[in-house]
Amino acid sequence: MENNRPSWTSKYTFILAAIGSAVGLGNIWRFPYIMGQNGGAVFLLVYLLLIMTICFIPLFAELAMGKITKKECIGAFESVNPKFKIFGIMNPITGILISSFYFIVGGWIINYILLGFRNLKIANFSEYFVQLTQNSIPACTYTLLFLLICIILTARGIKKGIEFANNILMPLFAVIMIILIIFGLQLPNANLGLEYMFKPDFSKINPQMFLSALGQALFTLSIGMGALLTYGSYIKEDKNIMKSTYTIIFSDTLFALLAGIMIFPAIFSFGLEPNSGAGLVFVTLPHIFSQIPFGHIILAAFFILLFAAAVTSGISILEVPIASLSERLKISRAKAAYWVFLIVAAISIPATLSFGIMSEYKLLNRSIFDFLDFITSNVLMPLNAFFLCIIAGWFLKIRGTMFLKNKFLSNLFDIGLKYIVPFALILLLIIGLK
Ligand code: PHE
Repeated sequence: MENNRPSWTSKYTFILAAIGSAVGLGNIWRFPYIMGQNGGAVFLLVYLLLIMTICFIPLFAELAMGKITKKECIGAFESVNPKFKIFGIMNPITGILISSFYFIVGGWIINYILLGFRNLKIANFSEYFVQLTQNSIPACTYTLLFLLICIILTARGIKKGIEFANNILMPLFAVIMIILIIFGLQLPNANLGLEYMFKPDFSKINPQMFLSALGQALFTLSIGMGALLTYGSYIKEDKNIMKSTYTIIFSDTLFALLAGIMIFPAIFSFGLEPNSGAGLVFVTLPHIFSQIPFGHIILAAFFILLFAAAVTSGISILEVPIASLSERLKISRAKAAYWVFLIVAAISIPATLSFGIMSEYKLLNRSIFDFLDFITSNVLMPLNAFFLCIIAGWFLKIRGTMFLKNKFLSNLFDIGLKYIVPFALILLLIIGLK
């Protein structure tokens, strides 16, 4: 089976797909609102510190494990030791659970794109958003539509599906983002937004902030559910994955910063608050767009950008269970995709309805949607990343000397992989579970 495994067309398509996976709703939807809730610039500093120091180690370990074993997640863990199969299985399961809430947001995005094109006058966006999320049939239709788009692209395979989508959507994403940033910076008082992002107020620093930042960093870098491991397993040529690791981290951080630069100046220019939470992008921003000439076009452009980012991440999430199912059960990708579609649909429909008719159903005191977000970001991703570091460091024996010339840095890498990062992840897990 391994011999006829697919591989990337070139170094470039691999990096583009990996960046496509990392840059998603985590950067444009989650990052600005989490930063808004955690005091702005000082959160950014903490986040940058963690990304530069702690996060590159598990990211590298995932790519390395994929590249070395050349297997999908379950096979990769099993090839280190058959007893580790269970840690491999956790990855596609986490992927299915993430997609079951991620694609709901994808569905809302499709609705907002259509809204922009229809140029409807909406008086109150918070009401509009609540209606959209609570209306069972349209909400489920949008979720399933987004899932269908991603599943079809993923089912088409590495070259015709994943590379194809990234080659079109990533440049589209970058171009729209630049246009919107230029537009936002022209608004009166745009500098207040930049100050909020870049002028830290150290009195706001607190321990919880470090943990929010670490959770956000894992999510946005796609660490801890096998997406990068699976993408890494398709790397053919002798590629320097250390360089890829830095490129992915640098690009993801750049796009998170650019997302902030795109959003905060507009918010401050209109005298609004940046701490409105998850509704920042679906309520506050559309409200701003509705007050400017040709705002509906800007609204559509912004949500097309979000759509591009969400699709390229969505396909990387689906690739994990699809690759595992098709390679383990030796069935075609199309058949595997069909099964994954059914499973994700079965979980995401109740999650979609948890905003409306199923809002009474609680898991650990949370709605189904919130539960899926919580269990994946705060529990499963840190846990998977923890086992990944332990297995890569202690059993697969990935060492700094394999790719770093500097002895001090390579020792530091080894200590990070074997001790510091696993410890930090467990800390995140314990605090996250409280
Ligand atoms: N990194 C993606 C984002 O920022 C989400 C994601 C998580 C993708 C896990 C793949 C795996 O939106």
